[in-house]
Amino acid sequence: MKQFIIDRTDIRASIAVVLGSGMGGFCDQMDNVMLIPYKEIPDYPESTVRGHAGELAIGSLHNIPLLAAKGRFHYYEGYDIQTITLPVKLFHSLGIKSLIITNAAGSLKPDLRPGSLMIIDSHIDCTFRASVTEPEEYSGTPFHDPVYIKLAVKSADQIDLSITKGTYCWTLGPSYETPAEVSYIRSLGGDAVGMSTVPEIQAAAELGMKVLGISTITNYAAGIIGEPLSHDDVIKVSAQVEDDFTNLLTEIIKGMVL
Ligand code: HPA
Repeated sequence: MKQFIIDRTDIRASIAVVLGSGMGGFCDQMDNVMLIPYKEIPDYPESTVRGHAGELAIGSLHNIPLLAAKGRFHYYEGYDIQTITLPVKLFHSLGIKSLIITNAAGSLKPDLRPGSLMIIDSHIDCTFRASVTEPEEYSGTPFHDPVYIKLAVKSADQIDLSITKGTYCWTLGPSYETPAEVSYIRSLGGDAVGMSTVPEIQAAAELGMKVLGISTITNYAAGIIGEPLSHDDVIKVSAQVEDDFTNLLTEIIKGMVL
């Protein structure tokens, strides 16, 4: 897998991005992009979720070499954790030291509005896979690099974008949560909920990579405002936020090499 990518490009990056649902447009900002469909990469699974292209992008951004995964693998697609974390492990084997992991997430609080961006400063595993006891919140190193969180806040400031910091809660899916589940997750201290990212953060931390997580808030989680939610809304709102998302990510990546 690693050799296949090395043979295809001279670009040697130290920063990579995992792009969540509907956020693949970020790669349009990259220069000299080479897109490698996942299905061409030996032993690499295919991404089956609408809004996820299933391609690896290799190129540069403001002359900074960059890798981006357009599309990821979810537990609810039937993949095991080894497979879900394969892109992170591939990035590590290619020399990536800094990883930005993004996702679309539902808001657990009325004042965290759809269309806003949230820097993940802690996470809670609400899948009950590892344990059936009350889930714990994890913040700080090695999962959420404090220097990168500061950089993200400063970057948002530099482009006049208002963002928040908060706790991302991982649920298994594929169904959205019920209002009762949402109320429980909220009681644990969660700000946003989604079906990805946490296993990737855990794998990256284990491999010694520095991680920054960013959520695009695409909807209110079930029961927060009493309206039904749909994957179409998730895709639609991530498209609306695309400019803010792209500008923030660009500013952060520029800051990472300073
Ligand atoms: N719940 C879980 N995952 C999500 C949501 C949500 O409300 N929105 C986007 N991904």
